[in-house]
Amino acid sequence: MIIRGGRPLKGTVSAGGSKNATLPIMAAALLSDSPSTISGIPMVRDIRTMSELFCILGANSYIDSNMMHVQPNTINNFKAPYELVKTMRASIYVLGPLLGKYGRAKVSMPGGCAIGLRPIDLHLLAMKKLGAKIEIKHGYVEAVAKKLRGARIVFPKVSLGATVNATLAAVLAEGKTVLENASKEPEVYDTINFLKAMGAKIEGSGTGTLEITGVRKLNGVTSYTVIPDRIEAATLIAAAVMTKGRVTVNNVNTAHLSLFLDKLKEAGAAVTACNGLVRVAPHKGRLTATGIHTEPYPGFPTDIQAQWMALMSTAAGDSIIKENIWENRFMHVPELGRMGADITIDGNTAVVRGVKKLSGASVMASDLRASAALIIAGLSAGGETEIRRIYHLERGYEALDEKLRSLGASVDILPEDGL
Ligand code: EPZ
Repeated sequence: MIIRGGRPLKGTVSAGGSKNATLPIMAAALLSDSPSTISGIPMVRDIRTMSELFCILGANSYIDSNMMHVQPNTINNFKAPYELVKTMRASIYVLGPLLGKYGRAKVSMPGGCAIGLRPIDLHLLAMKKLGAKIEIKHGYVEAVAKKLRGARIVFPKVSLGATVNATLAAVLAEGKTVLENASKEPEVYDTINFLKAMGAKIEGSGTGTLEITGVRKLNGVTSYTVIPDRIEAATLIAAAVMTKGRVTVNNVNTAHLSLFLDKLKEAGAAVTACNGLVRVAPHKGRLTATGIHTEPYPGFPTDIQAQWMALMSTAAGDSIIKENIWENRFMHVPELGRMGADITIDGNTAVVRGVKKLSGASVMASDLRASAALIIAGLSAGGETEIRRIYHLERGYEALDEKLRSLGASVDILPEDGL
C-alpha cells in the first residue's frame, strides 16, 4: 500500500458488519438442519476462509453481496484440516457445533501466530466438562461424545473464543450449563442473539455468567443482521482524528466503543457520538498523551491498541500503553519507529514519547491491526509511506483503501511484486 500522507480526511463513511461476530454466527448456523441467512457481513478473507471450511465439512454455503447463506444439512465430514485452521484460528469454532450436533469433531490445533501463543486449553476444558472425550493426536484435537451433558464451567480467564465454543456446544446438550467468568464482548452477545433466534435458551448475556438450557433442535434463521464492526469504526475514527479531518462515521454502535471514545475526548480529540454515528472535527494543536491498558470488554480492546499507539505517537507528552491480552502484540512498534515515532518497550508495556510529526517510510505489516496502525500513521505522516505485506489487512477490513480514498486520502494498493 502506498500512502501519500498529510491530507486531512473529509466526508462520510460507514463501518461494515463485524467480522468477529460473523465468524461465530456462521458456526452457530451449523447447529440446525434448515438454512440460515446472515446479512450485513463484511466481504473479507476470514469470512471466505470460514465458508471454504464449511465446504470441506460438506455444508453448502455461499456469499452474495454481504449476505451469507448456510445450508448445513449436508454435513458429512467432521475434520477441519490444518491447511485451513493455520490460516484462521476462528476455525476452532466448528468444534462446539460439530460435537454438540454430531457427537464428533477432528479439528487441527491452530498453533501460534504473530500476536501470541493463541492456546485453546479453555475451549478443550469446556468440551471436557460437557462430557466430551478429547485426545490430541498428530496435531489434531479429536473429540467424541455420545451426548453432551450440561455442566458448570468456570473459566480461569476470560476468553471470547472459549465462551463462544462452549455456548455453541451447550445449546444442544442435555440439561443446564452455567458458564462463569464468560466473555462480555459484543460479538458474544450477537452470537447469543442469533442462537436465541434459532430457538436456543440462554440467559445472562453480557453479565459474565451465562445459563444455557439445552434444547433438542434448533431452527435456521432466515434474516439476521450482524452488529457493526466496532474495530473498523474505531480505525476510521482514529484515522480521521490523526489527520485532523472532518469525518462522519456511520453504522457505529457507540455503546460498544464508549471507552475508546472517552479516551479520545480525554486526549483532546473533537469527537461527538449520537444515534449510531460518530463525528470527528479537527482538534486544536496536538493531542495530549493518554495512556491505556487493554482488557476484556468493557475494557479497552486489544484490537485497537496498535491504532491507539499510532495516535499517541504524535501526541504531546508520554503515554503508557499496556497490552494485557496478547503477549506479542507490539510488532508495529519498530515499524512506527521507522516513521520517526519514539517508543520503547518493557515487557507488556510501551512508553510512547510523542514527536511533533511522523515521516513517510517503507514499513512492514505483521498482522491485521498492525496494518491498520501503520495506515493511520501513514495518512498523517509527511511524504510517502509504503506498507508491505498489506495482505494482512484483507483478512478483516472490507475495502479500507476505497473507503479512505472516498475521504480524500491518497492510498493505492499495488500488487506485491509491483513494490
Ligand atoms: C478474539 O480472539 C478475537 N478474534 C481477537 O481479534 C481479539 O484480539 C481477542 O478475541 C480478544 O478480544 C476473533 O474474534 C476471531 P480470547 P480469541 O480467547 O477468541 C487466552 C483480530 O484482530 N486464552 O478472548 O482467540 C489468550 O491467550 C483478532 O480481529 C487462553 O489462555 O481471544 C488471551 O490471552 C486478533 N486459553 C486471552 O485468553 C484459551 O483456550 C483472550 O483470548 C483461549 C484464550
